[in-house]
Amino acid sequence: MSKVKPYKNSALGKKEQVTKMFDNISGDYDGLNRVISFGIDIKWRKNVVKIINKSNPESILDIATGTGDLAINLAETHATKIVGLDISSGMLEIGKEKVKKKGLDSKIEMVLGDSEKLPFKNDTFDAITVAFGVRNFENLDNGLKEIYRVLKPNGTFVILETSIPTKTPFKQGYNLYTKNIMPLIGKIFSKDRSAYQYLSESASVFPYGEALNNILRKIGFINVEDFPQTLGVATIYKSSK
Ligand SMILES: C[S@@+](CC[C@H](N)C(=O)[O-])C[C@H]1O[C@@H](n2cnc3c(N)ncnc32)[C@H](O)[C@@H]1O
Repeated sequence: MSKVKPYKNSALGKKEQVTKMFDNISGDYDGLNRVISFGIDIKWRKNVVKIINKSNPESILDIATGTGDLAINLAETHATKIVGLDISSGMLEIGKEKVKKKGLDSKIEMVLGDSEKLPFKNDTFDAITVAFGVRNFENLDNGLKEIYRVLKPNGTFVILETSIPTKTPFKQGYNLYTKNIMPLIGKIFSKDRSAYQYLSESASVFPYGEALNNILRKIGFINVEDFPQTLGVATIYKSSK
């Protein structure tokens, strides 16, 4: 389990630190996200929607929804109910505004909550998504077990998460970019200097590919498949219950 936390000199646990960090960066999150990923993250979320669309879900839970981009994209499906859940009230407030501006508030409900203690009954949702959220969980297994619990049998679970290119020279290029350039952009443009250091450090130690597939299988998910995106800098994981 990754012990990388946002603030090295803080006595707070990972969950509290992550919540504080996302509250701090909520105002610049969307803008910096686009800069850091050169806007490719938009395409990755669209690919998640394509996968979700195949099972035609009526209800979708988007965990770690943050400022709501994936929840908003999921509104293009035929789902009648989408719930976006996040632990950071700062991120959620920005998400709520975006949902309202797009006139989607009757379809998307934004809820404050912890992925490791989901406020829903067993077998509630037809599909569940998490984009760039699982590596921030304090306890990955607990978060995944909760997702499994609230997903309906035969339901679809899709994760979008950072991964590391394995081929030369992309691996070297990726290391240079995430270890040097990305934290520098964060330092210059974000008011939280540690945040973008944490985001890159946590990505470098988080399991990806077959390692994450095996964690999903251990929790009980079946039909686990992974789809590397853009030379492997991110990966989409699809599974079911
Ligand atoms: C990198 S952001 C991703 C936001 C959004 N899904 C996206 O694609 O842009 C990670 C989000 O995970 C949330 N998060 C971290 N730990 C969480 C937890 N235990 N429960 C719910 N949300 C959590 C953070 O508050 C943050 O908004």
